[in-house]
Amino acid sequence: MDVTIFGSGYVGLVTGVCLAEVGNNVLCVDVDPGKIELLNSGGVPIYEPGLEEMIHRNREAGRLSFTTDAEAGVKHGLFQFIAVGTPPDEDGSADLRYVLAVARSIAEHMDSYRILVDKSTVPVGTADKVANQVRESLSERGADLEFDVVSNPEFLKEGAAIEDFMRPDRIVVGTDNPRTAELLRALYAPFNRSHDRLMLMDVRSAELTKYAANAMLATKISFMNELSNIAEAVGADIEKVRVGIGSDPRIGYQFIYPGCGYGGSCFPKDVRALEQTARSLGYEPQLLHAVEAVNFRQKAVLFDKIQTWFDGDLSGRAFALWGLSFKPNTDDMREASSRVLMEQLWDAGASVQAFDPVATEEARRIYGERPDLTLTTDAMSAAEGADALVILTEWSEFRSPNFDAIRSALKSPVIFDGRNIVDGELARAVGLSYVSIGRAP
Ligand code: UGA
Repeated sequence: MDVTIFGSGYVGLVTGVCLAEVGNNVLCVDVDPGKIELLNSGGVPIYEPGLEEMIHRNREAGRLSFTTDAEAGVKHGLFQFIAVGTPPDEDGSADLRYVLAVARSIAEHMDSYRILVDKSTVPVGTADKVANQVRESLSERGADLEFDVVSNPEFLKEGAAIEDFMRPDRIVVGTDNPRTAELLRALYAPFNRSHDRLMLMDVRSAELTKYAANAMLATKISFMNELSNIAEAVGADIEKVRVGIGSDPRIGYQFIYPGCGYGGSCFPKDVRALEQTARSLGYEPQLLHAVEAVNFRQKAVLFDKIQTWFDGDLSGRAFALWGLSFKPNTDDMREASSRVLMEQLWDAGASVQAFDPVATEEARRIYGERPDLTLTTDAMSAAEGADALVILTEWSEFRSPNFDAIRSALKSPVIFDGRNIVDGELARAVGLSYVSIGRAP
């Protein structure tokens, strides 16, 4: 089938390449000529395991190409995926400017039936707005053409996006038109194996499903983070509590890991946007507000612990940071806890020596060259001569470090583990102090 994807960002690229992988003819359109040039010369603008090889393979096979030409994109595909960004407005609601611009452009260039597929995370009611925009633009050019707008949210996790797309646990399709539903079912058939994972529903329920999923996951994390602070106060160990509650299948072990807060481009943005949607409709959401507030406070927990440890004086001290990305297997630093901590340390007059397996370039892009930030090419160099080591991202390679080497490298032998990933007993055995989340030091 012929498929066009508007937006060659994270979601658009993964969707495009995976649809090409199963034999579709995919044309990706983006307004950024630099990005398209890079993709056409074999480069990839984002880091995602497996993506580069897959793009290469499908370009070679002639099933995947990239262009800035919107008209060619509209002419190409029966399916017109909208996967452009929806940056948050000042009040936290999603800005639909780019989504509606794509809708307008599709309406301007289409000459026969098209299916517009909302893939970006968009507020409930967006499909209606997209449909109104297309209707309006079609009538401006005096065209009377049929189209449908479908909500088909994505549930990809950064770092595991290809796997999530190729083997989805659900494919949510929101449409009121049974014929369109069948076309989407056919497009997704290669990904819909072993049992039916395609969930057909009305458009608004599909749109809300996406927010509900992310808000629920964020709620689990904030709940555990709140509990971790209570555990510390009462002298309990949150890791024991985690195992204790996770064994109940109604609760489950997933997404109940306490830490220094969730980040990324999705949870913070989506929780705020859902809160804003509810508020704009006259409903004051209390739980969603608390989920975000707990996370905001949790991102400062490590700084508080560090400050207490050093009796409130961090000026002139150097801190080794392991992990800059908001989670492992990505170089994405959007809303990362590392950024909050670095900025707090700088404000307190301290400097940072940071290592991340893939995000150092991104850190350089965000913060530029500055005397109080040193980015190292390996973990132990970051620790060298630092006053303390702070672990911020749960990268596998940080889980089992050489504690002897860390003790020799640090000026004061203490590890602050913001993700509870290293074995505190082993650290203590070599004379290191170990401070973690939700447990007595
Ligand atoms: C999230 C969802 O997991 C995806 O299903 C969804 O499709 C995606 O948002 C999206 O809306 O596009 P992602 O942002 O890639 O995916 O990241 P997650 O793996 O969910 O991690 C989010 C944050 O929560 C990370 O900072 C992680 O360190 C933190 N986390 C996760 C915890 O603190 N504790 C946990 O138990 C799990």
